Amino acid sequence: MKGAVGKIYGEASSFEFNFVIFDQKKVKRGDYVKVWNDVDGWVVAYVEDIIAKSNVRNKEIKEIVNGASEVFIGKAVVLGKREDGRLKVPRSPFVPGESVFLAEEKLISEVLGLSNEGVYIGLLGDTGVKVRLDPNSLVQKHVCILAKTGSGKSYTAGVIIEELLEHSVPLLIIDPHGEYHSMKHPNEKVNGEFGIKPKSYADQIRIAVPPISPFADKADEILILDGVNLTAEELIELTGLKNPTAQALLYQALKELKDEDYTIQDIIDEVERIKHNGKWTLLGALTKVEDSGLFGEKPTDIRRLLQRGKATIIDLRGIEPAYQDLIVSRVCTKLFELRKKEEVEPGMIVIEEAHNFIPERGFDRAVSTGILRTIASEGRKFGLGLMVISQRPARVDKNVISQCNTQIILRVTNPNDINAIRSGVEGITAEMVEEIKRLPPGNAMIVSPELERPVIVRVRSRKSRHGEAVSVTAPRVKERAKKKEKRKKKEERKERKGLLRRLFG
Ligand SMILES: Nc1ncnc2c1ncn2[C@@H]1O[C@H](COP(=O)(O)OP(=O)(O)OP(=O)(O)O)[C@@H](O)[C@H]1O
Ligand SMILES: [Mg+2]
Repeated sequence: MKGAVGKIYGEASSFEFNFVIFDQKKVKRGDYVKVWNDVDGWVVAYVEDIIAKSNVRNKEIKEIVNGASEVFIGKAVVLGKREDGRLKVPRSPFVPGESVFLAEEKLISEVLGLSNEGVYIGLLGDTGVKVRLDPNSLVQKHVCILAKTGSGKSYTAGVIIEELLEHSVPLLIIDPHGEYHSMKHPNEKVNGEFGIKPKSYADQIRIAVPPISPFADKADEILILDGVNLTAEELIELTGLKNPTAQALLYQALKELKDEDYTIQDIIDEVERIKHNGKWTLLGALTKVEDSGLFGEKPTDIRRLLQRGKATIIDLRGIEPAYQDLIVSRVCTKLFELRKKEEVEPGMIVIEEAHNFIPERGFDRAVSTGILRTIASEGRKFGLGLMVISQRPARVDKNVISQCNTQIILRVTNPNDINAIRSGVEGITAEMVEEIKRLPPGNAMIVSPELERPVIVRVRSRKSRHGEAVSVTAPRVKERAKKKEKRKKKEERKERKGLLRRLFG
């Protein structure tokens, strides 16, 4: 039949079928095809795999390929057809001998349930079909982005952040590596196929850093916390205090203060009153915390961190992990309280390197875990969403990953991380896991209740500049190293020639 790319053979059910491919150049793994079903009409299927066979004995196949020595077989899983807004899988099996066609983009969009508006993430497989997700569902029901290092997590997160800014969603970005401030500049390397234009988000982005940051002079704002009622656990983490006597004295001082709100200065005053020689270690540690300047009498109004159409980036470069953890814990706790009272806009918190803030039990401990777990499980009731990003899925709290309704997975190869994805992502099949291991950079598998099945997306180009990893060597130094290498090779060649001449005259 005209336009057909293959023919169904052998046993076929209404869920899957195999088909002989006429021209291997026309059908690829990951393509969407359509087949006529006598009862249900055109039905769409996904080409999950293609197998090459030689010396085929099967008579049915031989007849289809006219005796060709090499045969390509497509394995297709049926998606179904859209009827009255719902996806229906046909009730009767496909008939062997039926022709297989490539599905048109409109039909693919319809069957997968892709909408015409929303957060534009990229293009579906090898097609020109735009994959868009509903911003409300994305924000309120949480997103996670998981992949091995260097496979495009931050780039993809940046794409979603750009889209959410355009939908006026308030964002707070926890940025331990300073990867997001580059969004203030347009991207000069936009790939034309995605239909987007370079854009700067300078007007919508504010960078906040704690006073201890080495980048304080470049920031738009210095983040000061109130430091009221710091717990013993928080203070022990911040001070790194291991001495049991000093810890016991800290608990003693806090017990005295517990009936009213207290600041770090109040704790210091209380410790000074203690008559025990062990207090000096504790006092030294507490003074260091106070000297950091992170806690002050005029703290930042946390409401300013989440504003309509704006993103606040908390740049945590160069900040000790214990301070990073405490900042995340305090800011998120305050935001959640304010959100519950509707004193701050509904919005989303983006957390890079999430394994440091919400570690899986047994791997690490963090004071921010508690609040982030609470937001993951209750945030949707109050309109506070999470975007969790990590290169070690196995080390992120599994409860939090499974609370994320939308899961964006780029290339993952580590077996422990693969297992974490298998257990944390609902409906993932063995074939999908194989696909995840082989995803090229910038390609993501998106699992979302909005989509009828997980899809592979070529993540679109960024409109704003992506924060590249910092190069360790300066370009000049690199050039000099290259020249040196060249000279060394030349000398080696010369030496080898000399040796040959000596050996063979
Ligand atoms: N969709 C894409 N289009 C074009 N380039 C991309 C895309 N995704 C990733 N890249 C490129 O790949 C590189 C690595 O991406 P990215 O920095 O997002 O990785 P990552 O997963 O966040 O890594 P890390 O774990 O080190 O933070 C980037 O420098 C970027 O240029
Ligand atoms: Mg990154």
